[in-house]
Amino acid sequence: MRASHLRPIAGRSHGAGLPELDAALRARLAEVSAAGWTIFERFEAEVRDRRFHPFVAADYDAVLAALIAQRGTGLRFLEWGSASGVITIMADLLGYDASGIELDESLVQTARDLATRFHSGARFVAGSFLPTGYAFSQGDSDSRTGWVGSGPSGYLQLGRALDDFDVVFGYPWGGGEPMMLDLMRCYGRADALLLLYGVDHGVTAYRGRDRTGS
Ligand SMILES: C[S@@+](CC[C@H](N)C(=O)[O-])C[C@H]1O[C@@H](n2cnc3c(N)ncnc32)[C@H](O)[C@@H]1O
Repeated sequence: MRASHLRPIAGRSHGAGLPELDAALRARLAEVSAAGWTIFERFEAEVRDRRFHPFVAADYDAVLAALIAQRGTGLRFLEWGSASGVITIMADLLGYDASGIELDESLVQTARDLATRFHSGARFVAGSFLPTGYAFSQGDSDSRTGWVGSGPSGYLQLGRALDDFDVVFGYPWGGGEPMMLDLMRCYGRADALLLLYGVDHGVTAYRGRDRTGS
């Protein structure tokens, strides 16, 4: 089923006022986040200071608050461009059935190592979050996809299609929102939730609507 449009739903999250969590879980999530920042700082020094790389870390506290607000037993979570894996691992620790797709194989290994370190069952595959055959087009408007790279689609390896997921997360820095919204409209489930992080707005949640747009 294709969603005819997506609309933002109430409640942007900037990370303030995390809902109550079990203290042990909260401590574990904080450790994952701290480990993620250490990885990102090293990545900046060793990679991003030398050449362009699209891995820019989101505000993990803001994303965590959104994941907590939306969690439900067994919800399937997918991160588009999961990089070092922090967000997918946090989702797994919160009880989501969590997977990440990342184009850069060395980052996929980093994410798997981080998952092992935190005894997380999060799954990571190397590949593209763009389904095979997908091409972004806005008619005559700007249809650039910016930093989004191309490669074999990762969904086959996951054994799941985009419409198998209940919650999808992406960080479309540099103007990639139209493509991510279009991707979800074309391939996401109509009732799935899309969480997009932006530096200015924190996390915005979009819910797909059915074909009638009702
Ligand atoms: C902006 S970073 C976001 C990292 C992480 N999701 C976060 O929010 O902290 C985007 C990531 O997407 C990856 N990427 C770029 N194009 C991709 C594609 N077509 N499929 C999968 N990953 C991709 C990049 O290598 C990079 O790690």
